[in-house]
Amino acid sequence: MSKKKVYVVTGGAGFIGSNYIHFLFEKYGQIKVINLDKLTYAGNPENLSSLKNNPDYVFIKGDICDSKIVNQIFEEYKPDYLINFAAESHVDRSIGDAEDFIRTDMYGVYVLLEATRKYGLERFIQISTDEVYGSIESGSFTEESPLKPGNPYSASKSGGDRLAYSYFNTYQLPVIITRASNNYGPYQYPEKLIPLFVTNAMENKPLPLYGDGKNVRDWLYVKDHCTAIEYALKNGKLGEVYNIAGGSEMENIEITKLILQLTGKKESLIKPVADRIGHDWRYSLDESKLKSLGWNQEHRFIDAIKETVGWYMKNEDWWKPLKSGEYLDYYKKQYPEGTSLA
Ligand code: NAD
Ligand code: TYD
Repeated sequence: MSKKKVYVVTGGAGFIGSNYIHFLFEKYGQIKVINLDKLTYAGNPENLSSLKNNPDYVFIKGDICDSKIVNQIFEEYKPDYLINFAAESHVDRSIGDAEDFIRTDMYGVYVLLEATRKYGLERFIQISTDEVYGSIESGSFTEESPLKPGNPYSASKSGGDRLAYSYFNTYQLPVIITRASNNYGPYQYPEKLIPLFVTNAMENKPLPLYGDGKNVRDWLYVKDHCTAIEYALKNGKLGEVYNIAGGSEMENIEITKLILQLTGKKESLIKPVADRIGHDWRYSLDESKLKSLGWNQEHRFIDAIKETVGWYMKNEDWWKPLKSGEYLDYYKKQYPEGTSLA
């Protein structure tokens, strides 16, 4: 019998990582998954509670910047694949304080690459982001477009992205890099636009829309993102970058109105607030490269967004505790008493 493939998923207790682990177990019977996650505010082991009794799922609380624990995992589990989701991921937090972003999103990638150099792997997938290209007025970025990150989050992700490439170029490590657009779906921490606005609407709280609400994002359903990552892992060429687009570009105001419609709430809940500093205007990706390999999305935006909004409406127990404590302290800092709401 052939050996079970072993996946190390870093940051697997977060939004996309946990969806990816669920996807792996739904797709394959014979695999083992090691989830290395530091459990920052964004990591929630509850996202994977259904796997608690699965002997092929191992959760390890730890930091990707800690070479000791990373090396131990390579020695003990001899992984075939490593998919690095672990990151500080929220632009607004990076504007407040970038230190953790530089540490995890750059130095953490270095630690994982060094372990890969030492022990070997079949594939190292660096989960990057469309934000590394910066903003685009018209047209779409291809994988050849120059990187012009515009905030500390996207700059640190660019560092990790290019460091991963450099280990392919210099040491021939089997690296593939993916750059996806804005994801939505279940288990997303309610600080990002869609879960924040859905849950605020449910609580009849204002939806703080930055600036004029005309910034454009391209929305990708997280389950399509998962199939794209797996496709790139299995079919991608080493050393290459693959864009993963949602194909659903929308102004923030449009998606905000759609959320209010789907939650049955009034547009008077929309609260225009001061713009994010350095706010990227529009993200847009050309994804013909991955599509030419044969990957395609399985979900239509309208069905997936309805399902997503429905998930948050049904799972108050999941998000309610996240909107208290540390979360509220953060929001109080972001919008202190007396903040002028335009
Ligand atoms: P998230 O913030 O929901 O989850 C990040 C996870 O990483 C958390 O579980 C956290 O505990 C863990 N983590 C943070 N620092 C760590 C460290 N030092 N060591 C180990 N674990 C650590 O993020 P997400 O939205 O799921 O994003 C996952 C990845 O996908 C990130 O690399 C992000 O840059 C990228 N990405 C996200 C989007 C999006 O729209 N969310 C789009 C494109 C790319
Ligand atoms: P976000 O979900 O933070 O993702 P990113 O900044 O990585 O694209 O934000 C998506 C868009 O929504 C972005 O243009 C900023 C805007 N936004 C608001 O208008 N209000 C908010 O409270 C948040 C969190 C985001």
